[in-house]
Amino acid sequence: MTEPRYRTIIEPHRVKVVEPIRMTTRAERETLLRDAGLNLFGLRSDDVMIDLLTDSGTAAMSAEQWAGIMRGDESYAGSPSFFRFEKAVKDIFGYRHVIPTHQGRAAERILFGCALRPGQVVPSNNHFDTTRANIEALGVEALDLVIAEGRRPASTHPFKGNLDLVQLEALLRARGREDVPLVMLTLTNNSGGGQPASLENIRGIAALCRRHAVPFYLDACRFAENAFFIKLREPGQADRPPIEIAREMLRLADGCTMSAKKDGLANTGGFIGTNDDALAQRMRNLSILTEGFPTYGGLAGRDLEAIAQGLYEVLDESYLTYRLRSTAYLGDGLRAAGVPIVEPPGGHAIYIDAGALLAHIPPAEYPGQALACEIYLAGGIRSCEIGSVMLGRVDAASGREQPAAMELVRLALPRRVYTQSHVDYVIEVITSVAARKDELRGVTIIEQPPALRHFTARFARR
Ligand code: F0G
Repeated sequence: MTEPRYRTIIEPHRVKVVEPIRMTTRAERETLLRDAGLNLFGLRSDDVMIDLLTDSGTAAMSAEQWAGIMRGDESYAGSPSFFRFEKAVKDIFGYRHVIPTHQGRAAERILFGCALRPGQVVPSNNHFDTTRANIEALGVEALDLVIAEGRRPASTHPFKGNLDLVQLEALLRARGREDVPLVMLTLTNNSGGGQPASLENIRGIAALCRRHAVPFYLDACRFAENAFFIKLREPGQADRPPIEIAREMLRLADGCTMSAKKDGLANTGGFIGTNDDALAQRMRNLSILTEGFPTYGGLAGRDLEAIAQGLYEVLDESYLTYRLRSTAYLGDGLRAAGVPIVEPPGGHAIYIDAGALLAHIPPAEYPGQALACEIYLAGGIRSCEIGSVMLGRVDAASGREQPAAMELVRLALPRRVYTQSHVDYVIEVITSVAARKDELRGVTIIEQPPALRHFTARFARR
């Protein structure tokens, strides 16, 4: 008899430890949100029932990772935990040098601090915020070269995270290795909706970089999710285990920056990988200034153990099936309720197109912020505005605010934390909010810092 194919994809893990969720009422949440200045970053997390603010550092660790925590050796230099970590990273990523850091942005700062000079340009599909900020802080241009489909929310192209090879080649021809110190690619493309890049595209970038003698680095935060999208969507890849695809993908580059808070299934940590001996030496020296000795890099030995184990667990096919299915399930439920989302569902998050849903609220009244607040009030669910609050820029000449290209609300799914019934609840709450969307009003900013205002700005209802 052939194995029946069931529709329900169950979580491939059982629950051994539980964290109670504190249930709140709408009346309580009205007070809590008002006290937080209508800013969800200002809430205490135990006042949140379902926390979809980020998928970063929020994963549930496995029994084997907790066992590793006990095994962690806290020696300052030469800890066995470092060698287990290094062995796992080298086995999967394949780079000659591995330098641990306390999280992804520290890896970025150290790599860029050693490899870039003012006046240069670093292309990527889309740079993540911290990557862009670290590049720009050095007087270098951070250039986004994602394919045109990657900028269209409704396009269902299977690899919307691809980098435009024609534009990359033109840039490399025009500016050469003197001005382009390295090429980056973000896997998956977080700022573009968690969309993957194809193996074919990564091969194409690698070939162009080799021809122009420019190093190629991956922002590998969600490498396992990207590898599994390749398996599911790219011709000829269906029969390969995810780890094999990941190994090929990662070895096409000369190095990476990594936040282990995502596909490391760890609560903190990161690393830099590189095949460049001289650069590795410079980076180790710089890392000692802020991260620590190169066999711990700002991490405890137990963190290194959790990452070493997490990097294998994240490539498990049952885990990845469940992971991408549950994100798509959330997207399917919202789409069926008439809520417009960035298509197709990405790996780690669903992005609601708040500008389209709340077309009666202009960008200057922050429809994404208004929607995120209402989703919290309706069901205690925390999401994140990615629109004009986060990305709007004040034009220096006119003093007027330029709205962001899109008004999105991100629902990021922590790894292995919530079950299908939690996701059903999220769909139900957002469906009810969408049903009375015409009643929603915009918000206005009453207090804001000079930079990174989305973290601390205070708002009032209009
Ligand atoms: N690169 C990408 C693509 C990221 O998504 C992040 C973090 C980083 C780099 C920086 O890593 O946080 O360890 O310093 N993204 C989180 C998010 C914060 O919510 O998307 P980090």
